Amino acid sequence: MAHRARGLDPEPFRVILGIETSCDDTCAAIVTAGGEVRANVISSQGVHDRYGGVVPEIASRHHLELIGAVIDDAFARAEITPEELDLVAVTQGPGLVGALLVGVATAKALAAAYELPLAPVDHLHGHVAATFLAPDPFEPPFLALIASGGHTLLAYVRDEGPAFEVLGQTLDDAAGEAFDKGARLLGLGYPGGAALERLAREGHPDTFSFPTASRVQGLDFSFAGLKTALLYRLRELSEQEVERQRADLAASYQRAIVEALFGKVRRALSETGLDRLALGGGVAANGALRERFQELGVELAVPARELCTDNAAMIASAARFRDPLPYPDYLELDVYATGERTLAAR
Ligand code: KG4
Ligand code: ZN
Repeated sequence: MAHRARGLDPEPFRVILGIETSCDDTCAAIVTAGGEVRANVISSQGVHDRYGGVVPEIASRHHLELIGAVIDDAFARAEITPEELDLVAVTQGPGLVGALLVGVATAKALAAAYELPLAPVDHLHGHVAATFLAPDPFEPPFLALIASGGHTLLAYVRDEGPAFEVLGQTLDDAAGEAFDKGARLLGLGYPGGAALERLAREGHPDTFSFPTASRVQGLDFSFAGLKTALLYRLRELSEQEVERQRADLAASYQRAIVEALFGKVRRALSETGLDRLALGGGVAANGALRERFQELGVELAVPARELCTDNAAMIASAARFRDPLPYPDYLELDVYATGERTLAAR
């Protein structure tokens, strides 16, 4: 197959394979140029809960074992063969370096074997690009809140391109991390966001008052104090009280996270004059958060849950709006661990 460097072939990349391995989910997806998700395979490793967090070395090994089968599965579900691919897209960072390397090495090998171009994608740009997928693509400009286990950021998204302006981000823990740490203190498994949400449904959110970090200047977030507040509250209570009020504690704690996010989003909307908001990242799967954000009265885009948590469809989606590297220019491509390149990588 002839390679399709931009400028050489004006034809769009009709069929894109996305690969995402930045954390503990091994993901592959097939997405069309029009943003139709033909397959979205997510294999959650489910082996990290016993350690109370993701163990990077174990995550990498599992990616290595799963990636081939996950990609095969994506081809099978989309009913296409590798020969029909036009582009390979892969998460380059930020994330766990060993985990990212498995995805990037696989993407390079596949793309090179078929002489295809390769699009390296920033994970956070991917979360934003989940909102550009069919059947209801959300048109920029809008405010985006990306809240995941690794990141919490507010961005002004002007167009579909990789550039967006970061208006605020977390100064310490991410919102998902706050959910996970709270869940751990309450004796729930890892990752704890969904489990904490389930427990919170049985409780009353105004039983306990937790800090919502509105003291933090500007549009940045802080969640470390919240986790400490829960820890101290648990220490003050007797074992029986904790047992009796676990659901109330979960509900009150969840409310504090949701209110912290809500307050900053409302402020960002008023400061920017934007009246459209997109949510993304694993925390956007939270029902209480989705409900609360409806009250903003703005046009709200919340991707389906499987497109909010880590997935490869969002990575393929982001690749539709950037120039890929032509074959074989990507063979030296490296990964990056931290979010500093999220902006630099534009
Ligand atoms: O985006 P994501 O799948 O992976 C990262 O890039 O981190 O987000 C995972 C995070 C975890 O912290 C998890 O606890 C949280 O999203 N999460 C939730 C819910 N489902 C996942 N947090 C609150 N409520 C949920 N229903
Ligand atoms: Zn993520």
